[in-house]
Amino acid sequence: METRRLATFLFLLFLCLSQSSGTINYKKLRHRKPCKTLVLYFHDIIFNGKNAKNATSSIIAAPEGGNRTILSGQDHFGDLVVFNDPITVDNNLHSEPIGRAQGIYVYDNKDVFTAWLAFSFVLNSTNYKGTINFAGADPLMNKTRDISVIGGTGDFFMTRGVATLMTDALEGEVYFRLRVDIKLYECW
Ligand SMILES: *[C@@H]1O[C@H](CO)[C@@H](O)[C@H](O)[C@H]1NC(C)=O
Ligand SMILES: *[C@@H]1O[C@H](CO)[C@@H](O)[C@H](O)[C@H]1NC(C)=O
Ligand SMILES: *[C@@H]1O[C@H](CO)[C@@H](O)[C@H](O)[C@H]1NC(C)=O
Ligand SMILES: *[C@@H]1O[C@H](CO)[C@@H](O)[C@H](O)[C@H]1NC(C)=O
Repeated sequence: METRRLATFLFLLFLCLSQSSGTINYKKLRHRKPCKTLVLYFHDIIFNGKNAKNATSSIIAAPEGGNRTILSGQDHFGDLVVFNDPITVDNNLHSEPIGRAQGIYVYDNKDVFTAWLAFSFVLNSTNYKGTINFAGADPLMNKTRDISVIGGTGDFFMTRGVATLMTDALEGEVYFRLRVDIKLYECW
């Protein structure tokens, strides 16, 4: 009887140990250092009916009652914007761009100022050639917001990571500048 109990105990212990050794420790992985980091800025000048020459983004869909010239009320809920913005290594709009941020954002909450982003950094400079793809929720009232780096090409082949966004400047509803701290955890 005793040996049987002991055998059962040892069997269960073995089961526990074998299962825990097969589990990935995500907490530990999260403390891993990024394999590559970059800090870049991009500049968004929203078309407002008067700045066609300089605008880099445009409302392409508006909710009922709104229009595609002025962002709608209720935290811009339902406005969909396409952008093709210059990317710079410092926060100066007039610095030589090293690529373009291309994609969309859609304002997706009536009660909180929030957008959802999907875009690519298309980089063509002496240091970086390739694309980095981003997606995620952007709660604009947060000082910092984390979105996912979901892939890349060229110098960023198959990369993944996290990008921290910060609103670095905001001028009315015509111009904003985002600082993007990119931390890549998979580099090939
Ligand atoms: C376009 O940008 C230039 C340079 O920053 C500025 O001088 C000009 O006033 C802008 N034009 C419009 C229509 O916003
Ligand atoms: C768009 O909406 C804004 C604000 O509601 C209004 O001031 C503007 O006249 C509208 N523009 C057009 C072209 O309908
Ligand atoms: C990248 O830059 C080089 C050098 O300025 C240029 O010749 C090439 O056409 C650019 N490629 C793209 C995809 O923009
Ligand atoms: C935004 O801030 C809230 C409150 O500080 C936090 O819980 C949330 O994780 C933040 N969201 C993002 C995407 O960073």
